[in-house]
Amino acid sequence: MENVIILDHPLIQHKISMLRDKNTGTNEFRSLTEEIAMLMGYEALRDLPVEDVEVETPIEKCMTPMLAGKKLAVVPILRAGLGMVSGILSLVPSAKVGHIGLYRDEVTHEPHEYFCKLPSPIELRTIVVTDPMLATGGSAVAAVDFIKQHGGRNIKFMCIIAAPDGLKRLHEAHPDIQIYVGHLDRCLNDAAYICPGLGDAGDRIFGTK
Ligand code: PRP
Ligand code: URA
Repeated sequence: MENVIILDHPLIQHKISMLRDKNTGTNEFRSLTEEIAMLMGYEALRDLPVEDVEVETPIEKCMTPMLAGKKLAVVPILRAGLGMVSGILSLVPSAKVGHIGLYRDEVTHEPHEYFCKLPSPIELRTIVVTDPMLATGGSAVAAVDFIKQHGGRNIKFMCIIAAPDGLKRLHEAHPDIQIYVGHLDRCLNDAAYICPGLGDAGDRIFGTK
């Protein structure tokens, strides 16, 4: 699928296996989520625009590339997407951060919006939407819909684990965005949890339940 990038780097795969382990506690789960987001961000941001600027080295002046254009926007889908933000900010500390608050209804699995705020001017920024889990795809599609309604254009979606159904749904709804996936899992169960997955990402990051 064009615009779908499955990141098969051994460091990412190793850390995802540690995340999956039900014996991995909150503290370690948070650190691993951050580290994976950083490794994924390194790959997802390889097309950031650069421009040559003049720098004086101890030897001489030279023209050398630096990041150009409006600052990046990182937009986590609350809650679990928050766990990936610091990993990306460690790469681009000047990035702005928006928030999209969605929770999935436990029965219908449909997303419900409760808080959304984006940095402006959103239309001039590269936007990285983060959420560790792409399950049915309902939350991701709603988040990207919201960003586009507010003028966002250059959008990348980054998830640690995806289910085939959710990946297909997001790609079909928004074929123009790049989707970065840490690992493509087997399927969803009857409760719309990813199998084998890692359980409830938000609860594991924040130590709830
Ligand atoms: C989880 C996850 C995604 C969503 C994925 O969030 O972080 O946002 O479910 O499911 P979907 O692809 O079927 O929409 P949840 O709604 O549990 O909220 P939380 O992050 O606050 O726990
Ligand atoms: N949300 C999660 O946190 N985990 C899943 O497996 C599916 C949705």
